[in-house]
Amino acid sequence: MNKEGMRCSKGKILRFLPLVVVLLLLIYLTSFNLPQSHQVNAQKSETEIQENDYHKNKHMDASKLMNSVDKNHREKCDNSNFQINRVQAAFQASLMKNEDILLKSYLEGWTELQKFIDALGTIFGFISEEVTSKIRILIEHQQGVHGKEYISMRSMINYELKNNVVNLHELPRDRLQSGCRTLLRLHRALRWLQLFLDNIRTSSENDSMSISCAEAYEQSLAKYHSWLVRKAAGFAFLALPARTEFLQILCLEGGKETKDKLWSAVNLIERVYNVTQGMYAQYNMLELP
Ligand SMILES: *[C@@H]1O[C@H](CO)[C@@H](O)[C@H](O)[C@H]1NC(C)=O
Ligand SMILES: *[C@@H]1O[C@H](CO)[C@@H](O)[C@H](O)[C@H]1NC(C)=O
Repeated sequence: MNKEGMRCSKGKILRFLPLVVVLLLLIYLTSFNLPQSHQVNAQKSETEIQENDYHKNKHMDASKLMNSVDKNHREKCDNSNFQINRVQAAFQASLMKNEDILLKSYLEGWTELQKFIDALGTIFGFISEEVTSKIRILIEHQQGVHGKEYISMRSMINYELKNNVVNLHELPRDRLQSGCRTLLRLHRALRWLQLFLDNIRTSSENDSMSISCAEAYEQSLAKYHSWLVRKAAGFAFLALPARTEFLQILCLEGGKETKDKLWSAVNLIERVYNVTQGMYAQYNMLELP
């Protein structure tokens, strides 16, 4: 084997190594208590202990206890948590008049969606990291010497096509990937989140969030993923908590107001998705490596 070939196969092994580690980690984690519910249970029992001490000599009132858990949770839902309103506002602001997307707002929308992914639990870390690195690459382009070409999606595509920097082949890992290629990855993931949020919107009390999430994944991202990643994702979905707990983690209430908010966010995400999809189709770039 020549030097070139060796480097190539070594690169391949190195690329799959994290996945194998993730998979093993997932198997390990799923055979124990799931991290998300574990954490929440720990918080609950802590509150219970405090509550018990407080009411030592009083009449124990179950509903009071529940209220306190609820209140405790609402207090934790502050500005730093995921907020569906912000997703809606950012994607709304990203829509430009001429069937174009303002990248700054698009990335703001993604930053909020990343909080959503993070709220799903540490087991989704491998997706979250992927999103972080894609957002970082695009911001790097925006702050680079050609920053003004990266204001909108169309200006980015035009610039990269004209200057032959769209990578039509996979680049070495130490080169800054093209904006077009990077954004395509986010675009595909956006579809998954859009479908998942819509499934949450239409779900009712006892529906499984694992199934909602897996269905959205099957209809979107799964077809771009290798067998190994699909298996790892399947494990991660199993770790999602029941609906009530899930909505709490996302700082969403169960009522009609939440459904309306979800609906307008999903609708805006879909419009942004459609515009992006149209643009990539127009420039024949939907299959970039
Ligand atoms: C959900 O399950 C609970 C307990 O099994 C049941 O009482 C309730 O009616 C169910 N709700 C719906 C909407 O099916
Ligand atoms: C997005 O495109 C699809 C297919 O072309 C269409 O059915 C849907 O109504 C569009 N959605 C929005 C929000 O524009």
